[in-house]
Amino acid sequence: MGIQSVGIVGAGQMGNGIAHVFAQSGYEVLLNDIAQEGLDRAIATITKNLDRQVSREKITEADKIAALSRIKTTLTLTDLGQTDLVIEAATEREAVKDQIFAALLPHLKPETILATNTSSISITRLASRTDRPERFIGLHFMNPVPVMKLVELIRGIATDDETYNTMLAVVHSLKKTTASAEDFPAFIVNRILVPMINEAVYTLYEGVGNVESIDQAMKLGANHPMGPLELGDFIGLDTCLAIMNVLHDGLADTKYRPCPLLTKYVEAGWLGRKSGRGFYDYR
Ligand code: CAA
Repeated sequence: MGIQSVGIVGAGQMGNGIAHVFAQSGYEVLLNDIAQEGLDRAIATITKNLDRQVSREKITEADKIAALSRIKTTLTLTDLGQTDLVIEAATEREAVKDQIFAALLPHLKPETILATNTSSISITRLASRTDRPERFIGLHFMNPVPVMKLVELIRGIATDDETYNTMLAVVHSLKKTTASAEDFPAFIVNRILVPMINEAVYTLYEGVGNVESIDQAMKLGANHPMGPLELGDFIGLDTCLAIMNVLHDGLADTKYRPCPLLTKYVEAGWLGRKSGRGFYDYR
């Protein structure tokens, strides 16, 4: 089916990036959040990131204005009912996602595809509680969304070929590349990336190196654009911990045990960049 309009639930770090790339590729975007403040912040972030693209001559000022004009915002979730594709990019908590789907489903067109940007929760399980498991799919963007080339595409057990092929074409229309992942805990990227970050926290916890030496080692020794602790702060340490817990519970293997230091940081509210403090101080 042709997708022209996209509803996005959640205007946070991922939601605003997703809105940015869809609007830039010509889609009409309706962005929803529970607080006006969140929507205002998202539009400010998108504007700043589009300005950055203008200043680097990646796009023109006219492209920027056109992209911004395609983004509308709403505090009313059910306004998304008339869109052709809805992408849920809310908090990474299963109960929150279930609540959103339950409130939204009675208002959706029958043919609308429902996608989730979950970074680790089972697509099959989320889909099973909706009225359209065959038109439900995992669409996992990477942060920062306007820069990262990859989108993971995850089929639930019931996702049909038409939905998968439609989403493949949609992702390509965003000028991004897909990697298809089976529906197992944390899929591909986070299955590999987040245990590496957790291991970096163990390396710190056990005193093998300090924050700077661990990050420097991986940046210069393995050519990573960011050190693993800096990347953990960037992703959000609460998100990293949640993903480790999904891996630990879902695969029942002690190799996925979250580092106690990671848990302690999250309990302290030291969540990384978004809270102003993590392994680094951003205040
Ligand atoms: N929007 C638009 N453009 C942006 C941007 C944004 N938010 N952030 C950076 N850019 C652009 C810059 O304008 C710049 O563009 P040019 O190449 O045209 O000059 C380019 O990206 C590089 O940015 P900078 O020069 O400012 O900074 P940098 O070279 O240090 O790169 C980075 C920044 C792209 C974030 C880089 O550090 C990086 O790739 N880090 C790793 C990111 C990563 O691993 N992401 C995956 C996280 S895991 C995930 O997302 C999955 C999950 O579920 C947890």
